Amino acid sequence: MDRIRFDYTNVLADVVGPEHGITDAELAALEGPSSDALSAVLGRRGEDLRWLDLPYQTAVHDEIVDYAASVKGRFKNVVVLGIGGSALGNTALFSALNSPYHNVRPPAGIPRLFVLDNIDPDLVGEFVHGFDPEETLFNVISKSGGTAETMSQFLVFRDELIREVGEEAHREHLVITTDAEKGVLREIVEREGYRSFVVPDGVGGRFSVLSPVGLVSSALVGIDIKGLAAGAAAMDEVCRTPVLLENPALTHAAVQTLMQQSKGKNVAVMFPYSHRLRDMADWYAQLLAESIGKRKGRDGSDVYVGPTPVRAVGVTDQHSQVQLYVEGPYDKWFTLLSVDQPDHKVEIPHAFEDREGVSYLGGRNLGELFHAERDGTRIALTEAGRPNATIRLEKIDAHALGQLIYMLELSVAVMGEHYQIDAFDQPGVEAGKIAAYALMGRAGFEARRAEIEAAQAKASPRVV
Ligand code: PA5
Repeated sequence: MDRIRFDYTNVLADVVGPEHGITDAELAALEGPSSDALSAVLGRRGEDLRWLDLPYQTAVHDEIVDYAASVKGRFKNVVVLGIGGSALGNTALFSALNSPYHNVRPPAGIPRLFVLDNIDPDLVGEFVHGFDPEETLFNVISKSGGTAETMSQFLVFRDELIREVGEEAHREHLVITTDAEKGVLREIVEREGYRSFVVPDGVGGRFSVLSPVGLVSSALVGIDIKGLAAGAAAMDEVCRTPVLLENPALTHAAVQTLMQQSKGKNVAVMFPYSHRLRDMADWYAQLLAESIGKRKGRDGSDVYVGPTPVRAVGVTDQHSQVQLYVEGPYDKWFTLLSVDQPDHKVEIPHAFEDREGVSYLGGRNLGELFHAERDGTRIALTEAGRPNATIRLEKIDAHALGQLIYMLELSVAVMGEHYQIDAFDQPGVEAGKIAAYALMGRAGFEARRAEIEAAQAKASPRVV
């Protein structure tokens, strides 16, 4: 199996100039801290960072594969009800490893997949009115088992199922992924006897895609989940070395850290040159933003750190954002994702040979044009002094995706050490959740509601 590669040539000062690029000396200064960071992260492996061991949970993989086999051919639709880390990985795996037209023309016996990661009534309401309960399986995913968005969706669709297929039969249409013990969702699973999978301890939402959180829906739509795990395990092996420039996760983390902390690049653009990898950039945006975007440092001081992740897709965004990237402020660095071998070869026919404006295309193929545009953008960015790296996949398959996910997760965990913050909490997200509970009148949140109402009473809104 081919290893994915992290090519950081174009972030170096020798290539993009000393003002925007990093030097070998700057990288060398991070040798010791990177090795220490790796030991600190891997040292928590069997403790609170259990996501590091997800690739080796073979009994869980077997259980998921068996469950998917047991319902094969039974449902036409699988619907994920989840949000944030309980949804983004599902979408990313689905769009990377299934046809872009899967939901229009699903392969025989394989269901369509919908990930309803919003409670906008126009999204959920449209689905409620359009879905066929008899043909649909809901995978409800919540680690905490209490997230208002997911729980409200669960209540809506459970009610629909009971009304349409009946009290007893509705159970067959639900599979729940949640904590083994904690949370109201687990209590409901126990009371109702729903089929369930476990989000293990030490696996936070944004690090959970290789757990049942991401694997159940993937197996249901025919993704090779054992291939994903094997790819992640292969990357784990590669990333055990403490030698900075032999370890792609350590190198990626060092480059990100230097880009922001030494070169002032506050914006990290992930730029897949692959339609199928476009949602990996969304998944990574959450991983980076929620893990590194923090107010408090480890010593308790206010630090207000974190790169701002931005997603672009090649070639589409060449015609939308690249103007800004090449000529706008020097506040960004770029990580392209590139794929050497697309699955399809689409020849461009010869036509209009007397017209130089199109004749050069005839006889070439779309892959050649796609790669030329990717390389053209990379050259334009580099010549304009915009640091850019490339993560290269030979092809898109489960093994390569497993490697990519594991490399980025480990890189972000290591960044947490470089930035000296807790990469595994999300107090800013909790604050919004608590305010929403208070506004919804949840018991126990009365004091917070009173505070919010007092603040609102003092505010004088200005609206034009
Ligand atoms: O990464 C995270 O921790 C969050 O994005 C959570 O995944 C998100 O808030 C959903 O939480 P839960 O899975 O508990 O419903």
